Amino acid sequence: MERTLILLKPDALQRNLLGQIIGRFERKGLKIIGLKMIKLNEELLTEHYAHHQGKPFFKDLVKFMKSSPVVAMALEGVEAVEAVRLICGPTLGRKADAGSIRGDFSMSQQHNIIHASDSPKTAEKEIWRFFNSNEIFDYQKFDMPLVYTDEELKI
Ligand code: CMP
Repeated sequence: MERTLILLKPDALQRNLLGQIIGRFERKGLKIIGLKMIKLNEELLTEHYAHHQGKPFFKDLVKFMKSSPVVAMALEGVEAVEAVRLICGPTLGRKADAGSIRGDFSMSQQHNIIHASDSPKTAEKEIWRFFNSNEIFDYQKFDMPLVYTDEELKI
C-alpha cells in the first residue's frame, strides 16, 4: 500500500489545531504508521526545501519552520498521496476549497498549516528524512476490511 508524509507546521501547533487535523486523517480511514513531534534544524530544512532554494521566500520559510516544533506523521492507504493532498487543499490557504484543511484553517501561502508529499517517490524519501526505521510501525489495523473491499486491500 502507498505511504505518505505530512508535517503539521508551527502555525498548526501554535493555533491548537493538531488534534482536529490528525482526526481528519483518522476518520478518512488512513492508517497512522508513524507520529512524532520534532524540532527541525537548518540542515534538515535546507534538504527538505532544496527545490525552493534561491526563491525570495526561502529564508522566511526556513525561519518559520524552525519557530517551534512540528508534528511529523506517516500515513498508509490506497493511493494515500493523492487522498491526503485532496484533504489538505492547494498551497494558498485563502483560495483552498472549504472543507479542506487549508480551506478551513489558513489564509496564507506560507502559513498554510500542513505539508504533504507530492508523489509516492517523494513520499518514500520524505518518510526516511524525518523518521528512523524503528519509528515506522507495521501492525494490523482491524477496521481495514470496513474501510476497503477485499479487492482494494490487495492493492
Ligand atoms: P509546502 O507544501 O510545505 O511546500 C513548500 C512551502 O513553501 C509551502 O508549503 C509554503 O509553506 C511555502 N511557500 C510556497 N510558495 C510560497 C510563496 N510564494 N511565498 C511564501 N511561502 C511559500
